[in-house]
Amino acid sequence: MNDIIDKLEKKRADAHLGGGQKRIDAQHAKGKLTARERINVLLDQDSFEEFDMYVEHGCVDFGMEETKIAGDGVVTGSGTINGRFVYVYSQDFTVFGGSLSEAHAQKICKLMDNAMKVGAPIIGINDSGGARIQEGVASLGGYAEVFQRNVLASGVVPQISLIMGPCAGGAVYSPAMTDFIFMVKDSSYMFVTGPDVVKTVTNEVVTQEELGGAATHTSKSGVADNAFENDIEALLAARDFFDYLPENNRSNVPERPTADEWDRQIPSLDTIIPDSANQPYDMHEIINKTVDEGDFFEVQPDHAANIIIGFGRIEGRTVGIVANQPMVLAGVLDINSSKKAARFVRFCDAFEIPIVTFVDVPGFLPGTSQEYGGIIKHGAKLLFAYGEATVPKITIITRKAYGGAYDVMASKHLRGDLNYAWPSAEIAVMGAKGAVEIIFRSDIGDEDKIAQRTKEYEDRFANPFIAAQKGFIDEIIFPHNTRKRIALGLRKLRNKQLENPWKKHDNIPL
Ligand code: HXC
Repeated sequence: MNDIIDKLEKKRADAHLGGGQKRIDAQHAKGKLTARERINVLLDQDSFEEFDMYVEHGCVDFGMEETKIAGDGVVTGSGTINGRFVYVYSQDFTVFGGSLSEAHAQKICKLMDNAMKVGAPIIGINDSGGARIQEGVASLGGYAEVFQRNVLASGVVPQISLIMGPCAGGAVYSPAMTDFIFMVKDSSYMFVTGPDVVKTVTNEVVTQEELGGAATHTSKSGVADNAFENDIEALLAARDFFDYLPENNRSNVPERPTADEWDRQIPSLDTIIPDSANQPYDMHEIINKTVDEGDFFEVQPDHAANIIIGFGRIEGRTVGIVANQPMVLAGVLDINSSKKAARFVRFCDAFEIPIVTFVDVPGFLPGTSQEYGGIIKHGAKLLFAYGEATVPKITIITRKAYGGAYDVMASKHLRGDLNYAWPSAEIAVMGAKGAVEIIFRSDIGDEDKIAQRTKEYEDRFANPFIAAQKGFIDEIIFPHNTRKRIALGLRKLRNKQLENPWKKHDNIPL
C-alpha cells in the first residue's frame, strides 16, 4: 500500500511540475503565472478539485511517444468563488506550449459536459500555442468538439474566457463564443492570423500587440471586454465579476447582503443635468450613485464608450445596466454601441438578469461610414434584443430620447415594464433646431423667426409630458428618488411572467 501511495505522490508531484522547472521559470520571467497558480488565485483557497491529472496524449508521430507529460497541457477541475461553484480549465503553456491535442480537448469537453449537467459556470484560462502541430487533424477535431459545446452551453451557463497568453488561429473561436473575455495587457493576444502571415498576404507590417493585444481588442475591435495590467489583477477582477452572475439560466441572480438603504435619496442627481441641452455630463455618476454601495462593474469600458454597459446591484441583487453616455459622441447610437449593448441585453435576458436602462440619446449617428457599415442592421440588433427580452425592464429617461433611438432604448413599446422620465426629459422626434429647419424651411435665413419657432417647439416637445399623457411614460420621477423607484420596481417585477411565442429560435439581424 505504501508503495502505491508513494507512487501516487510522485505522479502528482510530476504532474504539478508540468513542463518542468525551466519552463516554469520562463513563464514567470514573462510576468505570467502558471496554470495552477492562476487557478489558485481565481478560486477560494483549497477549493480546487482537479480531475484528469494523469491524462496523456496518444500521439506516436515525430517522437511524441517518448514525450508524455501528465495532464497534457491543461489543468481541469472545479472549485468555488466566494462559495459558489464553478468549473475551470487552465492551459499550461509549460507543456507543449499549452497546445491543444486530442486528449487535451477531451479534458475540456468532459469539463464542459459536467458543467452543463449540473448547471455551473465555466471559466477557461487560455494560454496556448494553438493546435498541437504533431497531431494534425486530431487537434482540429478537438477544437471543433469544444466549439460545439460552447454553442450548446451558450445561454445555459455563463462562460468566461481569460486570455493570458497566446490565443491564435482557429483557437480564438472558443473564447469568441463565450459570454465575456478578459485579457492581460502586453502578455496576451488573439488573432486569426499572426503578424507574419499578415505581412505575406497583405504587406501590412504590424506587431503582435497592435494586431491582437489587449488594447486592440478592448478598444478597437470590441472582441474582448476588459483589459488588466497583469494576471493577478485579471483573476481577482474575474472573482468580483463572477459574483454578479447567476450559475445558470434557471437559477436566481445571486444575492449579497448590503447596508445600502433601498430608498436612499440622491439629492445631487437633482442638479446633474446641465442647463444647456448641448452640455454633456457623466452618466457614470448617475449609475454609481444609484447602485448598491457605488459598486458598478463596467464591461467594455474602452469600446464604444458612447454607451455604458455593466453590472450593479439593487437591494443586493444583480441588475444589468445599459446607459447612453452624453460625454462621448453626445451618447449617440452607432454601429459599435448598438452591437455592444445588444449582446449585453441578450446575455441579461438569457440569464434572467433584470435590465435598467438610462436614456440620454440624441438619435443614430448620421453619415456614410455608418450607412455603408450597416447601421440599419446593427442598430436593429439592439432594437431586437430589447424587444425579445422578457426579463424585468426599467427605463429612466434622464434627458434626450429622440427619434428611433427613443424607441430602441427599452421604450414602453418594446415591453418596457416601468418607464420613468426625469422632469428634464425631452422626448421628441428630433432636437428642436433640426425639427424647425425641416418643418419651417421657408423661414431659414430669418434668424429671429427660427429662434422663435425653435423656442415654440422646445416648449411644446422638449419635456416628458406629452409622452406621459399617452402613457408611454409611467411616471415623471424626481431624480433624487431614482434608486428608490428602481428598487420598488424590481420588487414588483420579481415574479414577472412573460413568454415569447414558441419558435425554434429567432432570426436576429446578425
Ligand atoms: C506543439 C508547440 C506549439 C504547437 C508551441 N509549442 N506551440 N508544440 N504545437 N502549436 C511548443 C514549442 O515547441 C516549445 O516547446 C514550447 O511550446 C514553447 O514554445 P516557444 O515557441 O518556445 O514559445 P514562445 O517563444 O513564447 O512562442 C509562443 C508561440 C510559438 C508564439 C505560441 O510557440 C508559436 O508560434 N507556436 C506555433 C503556433 C501555431 O502556429 N499554432 C498552430 C496554429 S493553427 P519546447 O519543447 O521547446 O519548450 C491552429 C489551428 C486551430 O491553432 C484551428 C481550430 C479550428
